[in-house]
Parts: sequence; structure tokens; C-alpha cells
Amino acid sequence: MSTQPLLTPFDLAGIELRNRIVLAPMTRSRAGAGNVVTELTATYYAQRASAGLLITEATQVAPEGQGYVATPGIYSPEQEAGWRQVVEAVHAVGGVIYAQLWHVGRVSHTSFQPGGKAPVSASGIGLTGLTWTSEGQVPFSTPRALETDEIRGVVSQYVQGARVALAAGFDGVEIHGANGYLIDQFLRDGTNHRTDAYGGSIPNRLRFLLEVVDGVTRVFPASRVGVRLSPGGAFNEMADSDPDALFGAAAEALSIRNLGYLHVIDPAASPKRFTPLLRARFKGAYIVNGGFDAETGNAAIASGEADLVAYGVPFLANPDLPRRFAEGAPLNAPDFATFYTGGEKGYTDYPALP
Ligand SMILES: Cc1cc2nc3c(=O)[nH]c(=O)nc-3n(C[C@H](O)[C@H](O)[C@H](O)COP(=O)(O)O)c2cc1C
Repeated sequence: MSTQPLLTPFDLAGIELRNRIVLAPMTRSRAGAGNVVTELTATYYAQRASAGLLITEATQVAPEGQGYVATPGIYSPEQEAGWRQVVEAVHAVGGVIYAQLWHVGRVSHTSFQPGGKAPVSASGIGLTGLTWTSEGQVPFSTPRALETDEIRGVVSQYVQGARVALAAGFDGVEIHGANGYLIDQFLRDGTNHRTDAYGGSIPNRLRFLLEVVDGVTRVFPASRVGVRLSPGGAFNEMADSDPDALFGAAAEALSIRNLGYLHVIDPAASPKRFTPLLRARFKGAYIVNGGFDAETGNAAIASGEADLVAYGVPFLANPDLPRRFAEGAPLNAPDFATFYTGGEKGYTDYPALP
């Protein structure tokens, strides 16, 4: 049998990836005290290091960026030390690992916020429904709109996160612009009702993302920075009046900045695919994600739709996913109940093939 396209190497900004399978970023809520990752997390990522590229779970760039229990941070010296042991464990087995930089914006609760203050967002538009805190399920807290002169400070939190990532030894960083978190709240007009230079027109709504990109690419070379977007995603009550125009313009602006990759959640089975539009607008590497399996992933590479395919749930449950694809072996079933619970169960105890 000829080699599967997914199993061929790829040159990502001068890093030789051993295959085109990417571990999608996945929050696992296993950080310890001080939002520091532990040795268990190093084991989890090292188990999955046979991917071409690992992207860490989302990691908040500042205390204000947290919205879930036990998510890791990337701003303190202790967090840097925690991440260093993860990076070293992955590098020791020949893996490549990027950190995902995150700020949840409005997807939070006052109990996560320093001083119990309101979470921040592009506009003061709250989420309906409930969220989990250490005290159980509670309504989301209504956010307050960032003042124009505060935005520079939030941008510098992402830059600081990149500095910590560099110091911890990460090969690169992915800026989380997807899934309804802070950057996405600025991008889409369902959540951005601002009337200053950060709201209204598409160039204005792109401004926050691009300032973050421009800051982070002063820490890592642009070729080592990726951005994740979810143009069709409604998660976290997101909507935009013209996603083709918005995300097409985003892809172009990121292309001009010579970013290493664009990572797009664009489910294989979605009736409306954004990949043809975005791939054509972005000249760097293109990662597609969302419900792919071995067959559809191989087809995406073979057709030129994408350079790399990211796998979330299948990789969570199968630490040796590339080998299973290579051998056509059956996959372990994911245990949804342990996705976000602490400890080893459902984290580091999924079996690899013998
Ligand atoms: C447990 C879990 C945690 C996730 N956490 C993140 C995250 O931290 N950052 C992110 O960008 N996406 C996150 N996602 C979305 C995944 O990266 C991915 O887009 C999604 O699972 C679809 O891909 P799949 O069908 O291959 O699983 C998460 C998904 C799951 C299942």
C-alpha cells in the first residue's frame, strides 16, 4: 500500500514534522495549585508526541483570562517551570509542541476574576446559561466592555504569555482566535458593538487580533506563530452577519504578516465549508480540524485542501493515533465523563497498542 498522505513529513517553517497529524488543542482541567501544569501533564503530551505537531490545551495569558476550573496559565515563573517539564518530556521523544495562548473574555465568572470583578469583553454582552465553577454551576457573569485605553494592556498580556512560552522552550505558539473567546468576541459583530477603532468595520474588528499577532511576532518569529479561527462556529453564542467577508479578510491580513500557519475549525461534514475561501487567501501552512477521521483526513491532504489535519477527541482517546492510522487499527472509544475531571483517569490511562 502506498504511504497515506497523513503519514508523510511536512516542513513547517523549517521544522521537519514527521507526519501531518496534529494534536488539536484540548482543555483538560488538570492544572494544579497556581494554575501550574504537573508531571502528569508532561506524561499526557509525551504519550501523544508521535504527532507531527502537538498544540497544548488553551492556556490563559493572565488571571483575567481564566473561565474554567483548573486550566493552566502561562504568566507566572511557576507556570513557566511547569510548562518547561512538558516541553522537555515532548522534546525527549522527538516531538514538536506549540502553546495555545488564551483569554476567555466574557466566558467567565467573577469567582475566577482577580478581586471578584466582572470579566472583560469587547462589549457588555453576557452569555446566557450556566458555567461550572469550584462552587458548582452558576450563571455566567455579565462582562464589561474594555475601555479603549485598556486594550493595549490586554495585548501585552498575550505578548507576556509568548515570552513565557519562549522561555519554557516551546517551538512556537498558537493564538486562540476561535470558539467565542476574547479575540473572537472582538472579531464577530454579534459580540462586538463597539463604536471606537476596535468595532464597526471589518478592519476595526480585526484590529485587536492583529495587534496581538504583531506583539507576539516580536517574541517568536512570525513563521513560528499560528492563529486558530472558527468561522462557522456558534459555540459560546457566537454569530456574525458576514463571516465570509470577516474571516476572508482575517486570512489575508495574517498572510501578509507571514504567519506560519492558519488553523481553522471547519468540520468535514459541515454544509458550509470555509476552507476553500481561507486556504486561497492564506499563503502559509493550513491546518483543518473538525470531525476528521483517517479517511477524510487523508483525502483533505491528497486534494490539497489542507497541509495538516488536527484531531481532537480521537487523539485524546488514542495516544498512538498516527500508528493506529498507519496500521488501520481500531480506535479506543473516548470517555466523555472524564474529559474535564482531574487526575489520571481518562487522561493518561488510555492504552496504546501493544
Ligand atoms: C475536551 C475538549 C477540550 C477542548 N479544548 C479546546 C481548547 O482548549 N482550545 C481549542 O482551541 N479548542 C478546544 N477544543 C476543540 C478541539 O480542539 C477541536 O476543535 C474539536 O474537538 C473538534 O475536533 P475533533 O472532531 O477532531 O475532536 C476542545 C475539544 C474537546 C473535546
